[in-house]
Amino acid sequence: MKAMLSALAVSTAIFAASPASAADLEVMHWWTSGGEAAAVGELAKAFDGTEHSWVDGAIAGGGGTARPIMVSRLIGGDPMGAFQFNHGRQAEELIEAGLLRDMTAIAEAEGWLDVVYPQSLLDSCTVDGKIYCAPVNIHSWQWLWLSNKAFESVGAAVPANWDEFVAAAPALRKAGLQPLAVGQQSWQTSGAFNVLMVALAGPDVLVKVYGDKDVDLAAGPELASVFAAAADAREMSQGSNVQDWNQATNLVITDKAGGQIMGDWAQGEFQVAGKVAGSDYTCLPGLGVNELIDTAGDAFYFPIVDDAEITAAQDVLAATLLSKETQVAFNLAKGSLPVRGDVDLSAANDCMKKGLEILAAGNTLPAVTQLNTEDTNNQLNDLFVEFFNDTGITPEAAQARFVDIIKSGE
Ligand code: BGC
Repeated sequence: MKAMLSALAVSTAIFAASPASAADLEVMHWWTSGGEAAAVGELAKAFDGTEHSWVDGAIAGGGGTARPIMVSRLIGGDPMGAFQFNHGRQAEELIEAGLLRDMTAIAEAEGWLDVVYPQSLLDSCTVDGKIYCAPVNIHSWQWLWLSNKAFESVGAAVPANWDEFVAAAPALRKAGLQPLAVGQQSWQTSGAFNVLMVALAGPDVLVKVYGDKDVDLAAGPELASVFAAAADAREMSQGSNVQDWNQATNLVITDKAGGQIMGDWAQGEFQVAGKVAGSDYTCLPGLGVNELIDTAGDAFYFPIVDDAEITAAQDVLAATLLSKETQVAFNLAKGSLPVRGDVDLSAANDCMKKGLEILAAGNTLPAVTQLNTEDTNNQLNDLFVEFFNDTGITPEAAQARFVDIIKSGE
C-alpha cells in the first residue's frame, strides 16, 4: 500500500510539473472556396506547428449560413474551440450573454495594442474595455474586378470607373457575355449596393446612414441616385445564374463576365487560378471613383469552456494568429491586408499593393459590419436580394423600405 501511495505521489508530481498537454482545437469558419481554403490552410499549418492541433470546422455556404450554425452550437452548450466572425458588431449578443472569453491578457502579453493597425480593428473587438477577439485581416468590400479579355473581345477599353463599365455593358450583353456577375447569396447584393453608395455618394454618407442612422439622408436625393445606380447594376446582373460569390468570380476569371463588385477575398480566387493582376484582370478600388478601402475583415473569438487544456490552446491560437509569420502567409493567400503594420508584404501583387497604399494614406472607412447590427444587415440583405431579383421593384419603392430599416436600426 505504501509503495502504491508513493508511486502515485511521484506520478502526480510529474503531472503537475509537465506543461499543459496538447489539445485538439475545433476551429469553425466559412472559408471553403479555393482561395479561402489555401489561406485557412496557412492558419492551420501555423497552429499545428505548436504543441496543439487544428481540427477544421469549415461550414460551406458563406457567413450568412455559417454564423447561425455557430451561434446555435454556442447557445446549445456545445462550444467549439474558436470561431471566425467578421470583426464588428456580430458578436455583441454572445459577449453580453457571457459566452465568450476575455482575451485582454493575451492581447497585452503579445503587444497587440502597439502593433495592430488601424486601431479601430481592436476597438471592434473591445466591449467595456475588454478585448474579446483576435483580428486576422483587413478585407475591404470596395473593389470592382474586371476581366480584361472580356472587354478586349468586344473592342472596348477596360473601364477605369463605374460609369465606363455601365456604358460598356450593352456591348458585352450583345456579344453574349454577362456584364456584371452577381450570385444569389443575399449579402452579395447588399454588399454591392454599399459599395455603390461609397463610390457615388461618398464615404460620409455611408457612415451617417449606418453609423448615425440618419433617416433624412437615407430618404434623400443622394441615396436616390445610389438606388438608380443599383437599378443599373440590377440590369447588368440579369442572367448571372450562379449562387456562391466565388462562382460569380469564376465567371470573371474565365472571361464570361465583364466584372464583379466584391470584397478583396476575390483576389484569392484569381491567385489560385494563376491569373495576373494588370494583364489578365483589373481591380478598381472604390469603383475607380473614390479610392478608399473599408476595414471589414475577420476575427476569431474564443468560447468559454470548462477545460483547462482547451483554454490554454485558445491562448496559443490567439497569439499564433497575429504572429508576423502567420500574418504574412495567411494574408498573401487570402488577398487581405495584415492587421499589423510591421510585416513585410513585398510579395504582394499589384491589387494588394494598391490596397496597402490606400491603407497607408489613411483613406479608410469603417465596415458596415462595424456600424450595423447583424439584425439590420440581415434586413438589408433581404431587401437587396429581392430588389436584384425582381425588376418590378422600383428604386423608389426599395428606398422607402431602406428608410424603414434604417429607422428601426440600432
Ligand atoms: C469574410 C471573408 C470571406 C468572405 C466570403 C467575408 O465575410 O470576411 O474572409 O472570404 O466573407 O466567404
